[in-house]
Amino acid sequence: MKKTRIAVLVSGGGTNLQALIDAQMRNELGGGEIIAVISSKEGAYALERAAKAGIPGYVVPRKSYDSNRAMTQAVVEKLKELNVDLVVLAGFMVIFTEELINAYPNAIMNVHPALIPSFCGKGYYGLHVHEAALAYGVKLSGATVHFVSEECDGGPIIAQKAVAVLENDTPETLQKRIMEEAEWKLLPHAVSLFCQGRLSVEGRHVIIKEEE
Ligand code: GAR
Repeated sequence: MKKTRIAVLVSGGGTNLQALIDAQMRNELGGGEIIAVISSKEGAYALERAAKAGIPGYVVPRKSYDSNRAMTQAVVEKLKELNVDLVVLAGFMVIFTEELINAYPNAIMNVHPALIPSFCGKGYYGLHVHEAALAYGVKLSGATVHFVSEECDGGPIIAQKAVAVLENDTPETLQKRIMEEAEWKLLPHAVSLFCQGRLSVEGRHVIIKEEE
């Protein structure tokens, strides 16, 4: 089977990228290969992680473009040039416009640090998500991996995992637990399912084929 060429898009620390790199090292990405890491920020630590793993890193700086649309177009051009099959948003903090979704229908994944449809959409990113969950008083939060559609955090859900909120949690402790217990496992698993050709989308529903 043809290897799935994966690009991981990042903006910051890149612990989810690291989880994907580690899974690839263990041969657990379903035969997919991370062929590029693209950062929206110069100097993002994620780029160092890519370099250490021997993966080419590219920067498409948000601040060099007038709008999200102009930046999206530049990213799509890069992805096409690199012959990418699957785009993974791993802590990517820019909201893309429809050019990316049209270029990669049902082939863009995002990891979100809450149980969608809670605490998601515009303004809910990074630590803000956990601040909102704690302020609301939920007893459970978690992570979601979903396909990206035109609605921010609104695409079909591939996988979710719940994580308990503890009494003394701060946004930082909750973020860390959700990463460790959910994000770093769910994202490589979802990518592996995609690379094995086991995901299909019917309306809002993602169907996962049994292993052959
Ligand atoms: C992760 O918790 C990810 O789910 C979140 O940002 C963090 C990035 O960490 N993404 C969003 O909030 C997107 N809406 P990382 O750079 O260490 O992977």
